[in-house]
Amino acid sequence: MIDPSTIERILDAANISDVVSEFVTLKKRGVNQLGLCPFHNEKTPSFTVSPAKGIFKCFGCGKGGNSVNFVMELEQLSYPDALRWLAKKFHIEIEEKEESLEEKQLKDERESMMIVSGFAQKYFSRYLLKENEGRTIGLSYLRERGIRDDIIAKFELGFCPDGKDIFTQAAQREGYKMDFLEKTGLTIKREDWIRDRFGGRVMFPVHNVAGRVIAFGGRTLTNDKKVAKYLNSPESEIYHKGRTLYGIYQAKRDITKLDKCFLVEGYTDVLSFHQAGIENVVASSGTSLTIDQIRLIRRFTPNITIVYDGDDAGIKASLRGIDMVLEEGINVKVLPLPRGEDPDSFARSMSAGELTEYIKKNETDFIKFKTQLLMGSVENDPVSKAKLINEIVHSISVIPDTITRTIYIKECSRLMDVQEAVLYSEIRKIQNRQSEDHTRKELQEIQVQAAKPATPVAEKKISNPFETEEREIIRILLKHFHNEAFEFEDEETHQVNKYSVGSYVLNDLQNDGLVSVNQWVREILKIMEENLDNKDFDPIKYFTQHPDSEISQYASNLLSEKHIQSKRWSRGGAFVESESELLYLLVPKLVQEYKLKNVKLLLKKLEQQISETSKNNETEKMMEHLNQYQNLKKVMTQLSGEGLGYRTIS
Ligand code: CTP
Ligand code: MN
Repeated sequence: MIDPSTIERILDAANISDVVSEFVTLKKRGVNQLGLCPFHNEKTPSFTVSPAKGIFKCFGCGKGGNSVNFVMELEQLSYPDALRWLAKKFHIEIEEKEESLEEKQLKDERESMMIVSGFAQKYFSRYLLKENEGRTIGLSYLRERGIRDDIIAKFELGFCPDGKDIFTQAAQREGYKMDFLEKTGLTIKREDWIRDRFGGRVMFPVHNVAGRVIAFGGRTLTNDKKVAKYLNSPESEIYHKGRTLYGIYQAKRDITKLDKCFLVEGYTDVLSFHQAGIENVVASSGTSLTIDQIRLIRRFTPNITIVYDGDDAGIKASLRGIDMVLEEGINVKVLPLPRGEDPDSFARSMSAGELTEYIKKNETDFIKFKTQLLMGSVENDPVSKAKLINEIVHSISVIPDTITRTIYIKECSRLMDVQEAVLYSEIRKIQNRQSEDHTRKELQEIQVQAAKPATPVAEKKISNPFETEEREIIRILLKHFHNEAFEFEDEETHQVNKYSVGSYVLNDLQNDGLVSVNQWVREILKIMEENLDNKDFDPIKYFTQHPDSEISQYASNLLSEKHIQSKRWSRGGAFVESESELLYLLVPKLVQEYKLKNVKLLLKKLEQQISETSKNNETEKMMEHLNQYQNLKKVMTQLSGEGLGYRTIS
């Protein structure tokens, strides 16, 4: 843990222009700086840096945030690692806070396991390239397969000497402890014997996102069917197969840049794609794809193209993967390969240019893939056709995005010669069946969220009807928190009291008991409330530098948005006053709009309840709702009337 005062020093030192300039050439544009966005491909610059506010924003792809967010995003680092990165750049010494003994032990253990894995990787690589056995057996095998030296170096391939425990002995001589050799699975230890797990195998190190070696796959060189072709490191404290993707470290830059990821099955598939110049590729390493692996890709891009072997097993695996990927809101394509080919053999059978051309021509969206695959066999059999339609409709129904769903329905209708209306009604049936489950799940999710600071992933799924209003309110609070725009005269004492924008808004919202469904909004408002009387509290600095990157990005994005305020407040085109001069009008108006919307939503809900209860002849309940309805109507009229006319305000 880095202690808070060090974090503050890092944040103060981490000048956004200096940080961004490491990666992007910036040119001055007024008070801001402009460059080509490193997060997406563009020819005309839309990436802006505001040195004054300490933030960046790309108006092309929408990414924005502070220095830490920038480093986290670009280097794909965790928050503490991004801080360490910045500390190193700005020469700030880090004092790590005391950890509990247990934390420390666990961390030490993981660290030791990674250190010994790193040593093993270097040992195997050196053995492959420098030792006689490695060269004549390992290296010649790789060369025979046509794997280039630069690829061998990039993926840090190696060779484990063929013998009982040659590697283990070497590691122990260098001072590495048996405990960690065993825990990483590099050494197998029984009561009366010790041996190397990977003896005589070509070694493929598996890197985590940050580039550290966490496991190995070892390929045998014999053709003996009884010997497993690949041996892999066992699951351990540092290696969870289902959460790892082979090649992610080498691919992450290009996945982000090209906004797309190829998914293949095996180690050699990844290598051959790189060799053909396609570097945005990862492998699920033989196992069926897991949700965690999909989410790992999702951190970099929502676009996946599955490239599995052109045999029955491969095709089955592609189909299995599809629904899971769709459910995560990812756009899936499939690249079918000719029968008998795997991505590795296929990529090597042609030039890089031909491969790119093949991909362009043959990449199919999943609907087409599934239909074409299954349609042939069912065309003359109405029952099987109905089954197939049902299956495809099911895949479409799990897609979270409405627009994408609509597009697929259109396509499915065309390909299968079924009316869109029929498909829609099928989808509705499936959704109805699921909706009860869904409501229960969502409710649970909300409860969990309220109980503890929950994951932002779950948060995103709850739609927020007040998003626009809340953004505007928080933006105003960020910029004008301490501005004493309000004066109220006490009717008895005639004393004039001043109120800040912060206290006006927060008191008003609190009085009405309005609570946001957005966790970050709640968090921001809570902190603001705690600091209402704190004159040193600088909300812009505090929130754009907040350790929770969801919060800091939320704040940074608000501050860098191009605002419509000038339009909204330029009555009849005669815009004169600046925003801060208009706060006494703007703020009450905003709060009022927020409340009004809330009332309208409540009214709508009541309308539904009234019609339901009346349908069911529940007269008493209906009257109750009706009563509430009429009261709320009055509130609404009042709120709508409270326009610009009322002025207790200076
Ligand atoms: N695999 C494994 N254990 C095995 C076989 C396969 O872990 N006994 C995993 C490996 O990650 C492998 C992937 O499944 O890369 C795909 O298997 P396969 O297609 O059989 O291997 P290839 O990658 O094609 O390897 P090669 O080209 O060397 O045959
Ligand atoms: Mn293969």
